[in-house]
This record gives sequence, structure tokens and C-alpha cells, in this order.
Amino acid sequence: MNRNEKINAEVIAVFPNKVKISVDDLEDFQLAEEKLKVGSYLRIADNDNAVLIAIIENFNIEVGINHDGTPNRKYILEANPLGIIRNGKFERGGDTLAIPPKKVEPAFKEEIQKIFEESLEDDKKFSFATLSSDKSISVPVDGDKFFNKHIAIVGSTGSGKSHSVAKILQKTIDEKKGDYQGLNNSHIVVFDIHSEYHAAFPEANFIDINNLVLPYWLLNSDELQELFLDTEGNDHRQRNVLKEAIVNNRKRNFKGDSLLKEKIHFDSPLFFDINEILTYIKNRNNEKKDKSNAIPYTTADGQSHLFDTTNSEELFVELVNYTGSSATGTNNGNLINFVDRLENKINDKRLTFLFGDASKKISFEETLSQLLGYREETKSNITILDLSGVPFDVLSITVSLISRILFEFGYNYKKLRAKNDEDETFNNDVPVLLVYEEAHKYVPNNGLAKYRASKESIERIAKEGRKYGVSLMLASQRPSEISETIFSQCNNFLSLRLTNPADQNYVKRLLPDTLGSIVDKMPVLKAGECLLIGDAVILPSIVQIEPCEPKPSSNDIPYLQLWKEEWHTLDMEAIRKVWER
Ligand SMILES: Nc1ncnc2c1ncn2[C@@H]1O[C@H](COP(=O)(O)OP(=O)(O)O)[C@@H](O)[C@H]1O
Ligand SMILES: [Mg+2]
Repeated sequence: MNRNEKINAEVIAVFPNKVKISVDDLEDFQLAEEKLKVGSYLRIADNDNAVLIAIIENFNIEVGINHDGTPNRKYILEANPLGIIRNGKFERGGDTLAIPPKKVEPAFKEEIQKIFEESLEDDKKFSFATLSSDKSISVPVDGDKFFNKHIAIVGSTGSGKSHSVAKILQKTIDEKKGDYQGLNNSHIVVFDIHSEYHAAFPEANFIDINNLVLPYWLLNSDELQELFLDTEGNDHRQRNVLKEAIVNNRKRNFKGDSLLKEKIHFDSPLFFDINEILTYIKNRNNEKKDKSNAIPYTTADGQSHLFDTTNSEELFVELVNYTGSSATGTNNGNLINFVDRLENKINDKRLTFLFGDASKKISFEETLSQLLGYREETKSNITILDLSGVPFDVLSITVSLISRILFEFGYNYKKLRAKNDEDETFNNDVPVLLVYEEAHKYVPNNGLAKYRASKESIERIAKEGRKYGVSLMLASQRPSEISETIFSQCNNFLSLRLTNPADQNYVKRLLPDTLGSIVDKMPVLKAGECLLIGDAVILPSIVQIEPCEPKPSSNDIPYLQLWKEEWHTLDMEAIRKVWER
């Protein structure tokens, strides 16, 4: 059949970002091999040999009456213009079609294939998906643009987010220019709260609560306060004592130049001894004044001292004996809750990764190497941070600290590169991608204090990370619960099946193209099927993400299959032991 003969469709309206088409008979209009759907492409030709490619956004049926009184139905299609093919070349943007358009029909497969193949130079092509309506057409993105800006992957549970993340990262690790052996230069850190990704990356630098070593002394002032102070209350006294203790203790432990020592402040990334801080605060809680308002105390060696904020190192070392008689005007026992809180945290076995001996000893360089997969014995393109064992009350500061270290790595590495070579043209030759699964858990759309730290750190990366070669990939099933500051900075989106209307509307508003409305008009997508949109994408497309191998471990427990088996025994003692650790 000649496809042109039976087509009976016309353009009935042209808007800057919409074309309306009336079709008499849908069966005749669509190609034999492909059913038209929301997301299918149309070609609209004008008299100047330009062809507009548009994507179908919705279908309507209009019932009318023929001259002879019989009813008829017409299909009204609305489509978004994507770009123009002129002289065989495709350009994005669609406002140059000569009006009136001459002919409208489904786009030719070869045409679409050619657009995807020719619009990108080969070494920029990065593909992980095929066109949903025709799996033989691979849909590449511009890999430089894709990773250089932030990426959002949204979809309800089970829509295929984790598999999509895994597929993209597996492809990244495999990409090579030239024929060298061993690892390429990709650097990815995955924040994995559900222990899903180790299975997909058996070779990864795998870090969980058992081998993670984070130095508490790299926490910044906000994180320290969130951890040690009752942040909902607003206790200046506690904050001042903490600040004084930490700044003085950093100075006390500092081994370098005395000029640098003077510059030490609350946020300096320098060692302090947490047990010495505790002793100091215990002391300060007990202090007493004498008649002249001085605070005298004696130490175990029998020496007498007068308290002075800049010169009372003994308070870090031992519990001193205050010899004054009045507690009025001093801390007067008011720090006791603070002391308790600090003591509980330091002694909490679950927080060994933060306050254990290893955290005191680890150097700055080792910390960075650990997080970036640069340790010789576990060198890897991808670091999986399995956070499933991190207690919920410190999850935010843990994520915050790690994110911040990685951001500041980019920031300072840029400075170093500029210092070493003034003509340096790009800021970071070791760019990093940070992947946050279930991003709404770290960067929620609310101001609750318990999320403040991680939210601030990640928002900063969202706003500034690009300059320093630190970009984000955020996966979430509840996009409407993610901080808008972060989400609005994403330039490329994979929108998988999204069933919640609030989430659909939210995503729709943030999508960069006029294509948002496709999201909620899209029929139910299959697992791994998504709308791929963004500045790295040649044509916004509904694609199928290629299956990944190996796969992330699923959270889906086959209840019925398990329940149908014979009764399983449980080792309660073994469970207790794990619990106690
Ligand atoms: N690209 C894909 N191709 C085929 N099946 C997929 C694909 N992505 C996901 N699936 C299927 O969907 C299920 C859920 O995927 P998953 O990535 O765990 O979803 P989510 O992380 O959104 O909850 C998987 O177990 C897998 O069987
Ligand atoms: Mg998942």
C-alpha cells in the first residue's frame, strides 16, 4: 500500500508550541507496523520542503454530524513541535514552518533513526535506551551534557528507577576512548539506603557501616550543632561552649605554623579530640566563681589555675577541682543535658564509624581516597555507600558530611589546578557524579531541622557543583517531596511511570520543555519505560531503558512464595547478636 494515499489528516491550528491536527480515520492514518500513541512522532511538511517533527501529546475524539444527518467522528491530535528537518538536517526548535502546512503524517522510521544517528558526534553519544515504539532505534544522549548537569530520575515504586540508575552507571564504567587496559576515569559515588547496588556492581568500592570510617572532626559547625545540641531548642550557652571547646582543642592539637594556628575556626577541617571536648564541657558545667569573679581550680598535680578561655588546656585533660564557692553567673549545671547527649553519642556503638578510634586516626587524604575509590586495594570507578545501617538520627549529617567532602574536593581541586597551571581550561579532570537513591529522604521539600544538614550540602552542590565537576543524579519516587531548589537545577529527566497526581503535576511544572503535559497524559508505562527529556536529549522521546546486568537486588520479597514453603526456623540468638552490635 502506498502510505500516502489513504491518509486523510490536516493541520487545523498552529501555535508556537502546539499543532492541532484533525484526522478522519485513525486506522488509515497510522502506519501498518506501528500504532500511534501519545509520544509517537509526526511529520508535518510545508511548501518550502521543510519538515516539522512533532510529538503527540494527546488524542481527542469529536463527534459531529454529516450533511445528511448521520453522526461522524473526528480525531483531534495535539502535538508539540520538536524541530525541523531542512535539507536533510535536523534542528531543534519549531517556529519556522511556512503556513499553511501542506501535509501531515506519521514520521518515517528512517527519518527518526537518522535524526538520532546524525545529530550527535560519535564520541559524544551515550546510549542506554531504545525508542519505545521501535526497539531497533537506539536513542543516544549527549554524554557530556548529560553528566555535566544534574539528572533526575522519577517514577513510582517498581517503575524501574534502580534498574535505570544501574544501567546508566554500568555503561559509564564501560566507556573507553582508545585501547587501554583497566579502569576508565569515571568517578561515581552512590548513596544507597536500601542495599540495592552492590549486586549490580560486584567490583565496586563497597562501603557500609562496618568499614566506613568518617572523621567526626570534619563535621562543620552546623553539623556538629545538629549532632550535639538540641537544635529545636536554641541554646546559645551550649553553642558558645561547644564552639570555644572545638576551636581551642583544634589549636591544642595543631602541629603546624603558629600563624595558621591563629586562623583556626569552628569550621576548619582539622583534628580535634572528641573525648577531650567531653571532659572540657563536663568541667565547664561544674565551674564556680570566687568573690572576685575569677574561676579558680586545682588539677590533680596540686597546681592552682585561673580559668581563661584561651589558656586553660587542663580542662581538656582531666576533671578539675573548682575552688570557688558560687555557681551564680556560671554555667551552673545547665550543661548537663548537653554532657549527656555528647556522652551518649560518643559511646553509641552504632556510631563507631564516626567516633571510633579509626575516626580519630584517619587522615584527610585517606578519607578522600576511601570515598572516591582511590585507595589502592579497593580502587574502583564506583563507590557504593550502603547507608542502610546508619541510624536514622545521624543519617542526615552523615550524608551531609560525605556530600560536602566530595563537593569541597571539587572546589579545592579546581583551585589547585588553577594554581599549578594558569592556562588550565577546565576545572576538574576527575569529575564526579553523586547518585542519591530515594533523594526525598535527604533533601525533602520541608524545613525540618533534622534534614537541614544534608539538604544544605546537597543544595549547594545543585547550585554550584557544576563549576567544580561535581554533579548529581537524583532518583525519587516522591518528586513532589524533593526540595524544589534541587529539582529545578536538573537539566535532564527520566520520567518513568508516575501514578500519584501530585507528583505528576510537580514534575510537569519543572520539566524544561513545553512537554510537561505529556507526563500526565502518558498511558501507563511499562517497567523501564520513560519519557526522556532534557538538554542532552536530541528529541524528547519515550524510551525503553536497556536491561542492566548484573541487576540491583530487588526489595520485592515474594511473600506468597515464601509463605507457601514449609515453616522456617529462626536463630533468635544470632538475631540478638546482630541487634546488639
Ligand atoms: N529497563 C528494564 N527493562 C525490563 N524490566 C525492567 C527494567 N527496569 C525495571 N524492570 C523491572 O521492574 C522491576 C522494578 O524495577 P526497579 O528498578 O527495582 O524499580 P524502582 O527502583 O523504581 O522501584 C524490576 O524488578 C525489573 O523486573
Ligand atoms: Mg528502587
